[in-house]
Amino acid sequence: MTKYYITTPIYYINDVPHIGHAYTTVAADVLARYHRAKGDEVFFLTGTDEHGAKIAEAAEKAGKTPQQFTDDLVPKFQEAWKVLNISYDQYFRTTNPEHEKFVQDFVTKLIEAGYVEKRKYEGLYCVGCEKYLKESELIDGLCPDHKKPPVKQSEENYFFLLSKPDLVTKLMKLIESGELGIAPESRRNEVLGKIKAGLEDISISRAGVKWGIPFPADPEQTIYVWVDALLNYYTATKIYDKENFWPADQHLMAKDILWFHAVIWPAMLLALDLPTPKKVFAHGYFTINNQKMSKTIGNVIDPIEVVRKFGVDAVRYALLREFPFGEDGDISLEKIEGHYNSLANNIGNLLQRTLSMINRYNIVIPTEAEESGSPKILRLSASRRIAQDDNIITVNAELDRLDFMGALKKIDEVAISTNKNIAENEPWVLAKEGKTDELASVLISALDNLRLIAELIVPFMPETAEKMAKQLKTLQPEPIFPRLEK
Ligand code: MSP
Repeated sequence: MTKYYITTPIYYINDVPHIGHAYTTVAADVLARYHRAKGDEVFFLTGTDEHGAKIAEAAEKAGKTPQQFTDDLVPKFQEAWKVLNISYDQYFRTTNPEHEKFVQDFVTKLIEAGYVEKRKYEGLYCVGCEKYLKESELIDGLCPDHKKPPVKQSEENYFFLLSKPDLVTKLMKLIESGELGIAPESRRNEVLGKIKAGLEDISISRAGVKWGIPFPADPEQTIYVWVDALLNYYTATKIYDKENFWPADQHLMAKDILWFHAVIWPAMLLALDLPTPKKVFAHGYFTINNQKMSKTIGNVIDPIEVVRKFGVDAVRYALLREFPFGEDGDISLEKIEGHYNSLANNIGNLLQRTLSMINRYNIVIPTEAEESGSPKILRLSASRRIAQDDNIITVNAELDRLDFMGALKKIDEVAISTNKNIAENEPWVLAKEGKTDELASVLISALDNLRLIAELIVPFMPETAEKMAKQLKTLQPEPIFPRLEK
């Protein structure tokens, strides 16, 4: 059995999850379900990043210890993922004591292998990013992402020697050979360009941050939160007995943290001669109503609330159908509602009218054995089968490329053309004229396409797929996307 190990980032747990986190998580879930349907053995990992200054600050504001604070928030993440029907196999927390031990061991090995050095460091630190920023990265003296001035920090830190020539050579080879795939292509080129421009060593310890894993060689310092976080992908396989899944097949994240996943993370593994991930994919960032999502603007979408309004599958569909995975886009409640309505008008309507007419005109559905036994039906179904197979191949190829929007468009097209076929052939006229064979053939072919649609939507809309499959068996129609209450 083919193994497939897929991950989302582990999200900072300084607040409840928002629709941005849901986006990556839903995409990962679609891939996980797709691979399970193909018969692969899947390990789908998500979780939370619980150490560092950012979490400590949020906990202090809430008047809690960081441990209590994160303990209280984890169930909120898990609830959101449950509501969104996320089929993760394991939820990972970086405060897991076993993880802490593995991280310390890993850092110890990096030191032993000669990839760590102690140095004095002075720089501009942004807590929002949990990283040092260069003077040239600032806009009007502010962090471009968090719109806050970074704080001058000067400390003695331990550095990971990312610029060591042997490491850089190995990393370049890894990426250029495609052994580590970085997608989309434009992002891959960006990463390669930046590596060629020169890598700098990075500080991997913090003297000022207390909420973190103690640095093995120096208990006065803690391990940099990003080193701790990236290692989750590795330690999870050890803690949960999934070592045979290593290395990861697919890391998913947005472009904001691609550098960590495509450069720092593989370099850490290369330094210890460990197998490196096979693919990383950086999707785009989306705005809400064309504005950056922010509490102050008040445009943050709560995934649980939006599911309550539109149902889980319409939300999953809308997120992946609205703009191409890999590009930036925009989401809004109006847009999600628009997608709900098009699902109702297209797939929903096709299911209703087909089943109603099958009942109204007493169409007898041939069993599979009958279909292949009758030359007349066989001719019809053979060409249908070929068209259907083509659609399955196309959708699978799109899923293999992580082109979720393309796959959903294709599925929509099957429903659109089937609806069109019904409109053109006017079964109601055929019934009046007593053309029973033609009538049966139009409706049976529609039913057949509905079966195909029910199969193709499994990874995207598992609940709807199940409802459809049931109705296609019982032939009793029931709205799958009922009219929304105002
Ligand atoms: N804790 C780190 C990740 C460590 S992984 C070893 C982190 N956490 S985060 O909570 O800030 O999550 C960032 C991720 O959330 C992005 O990479 C993306 O997957 C998702 N998104 C957050 N906001 C988003 C948008 N507005 N649009 C698209 N994705 C968004 O970084």
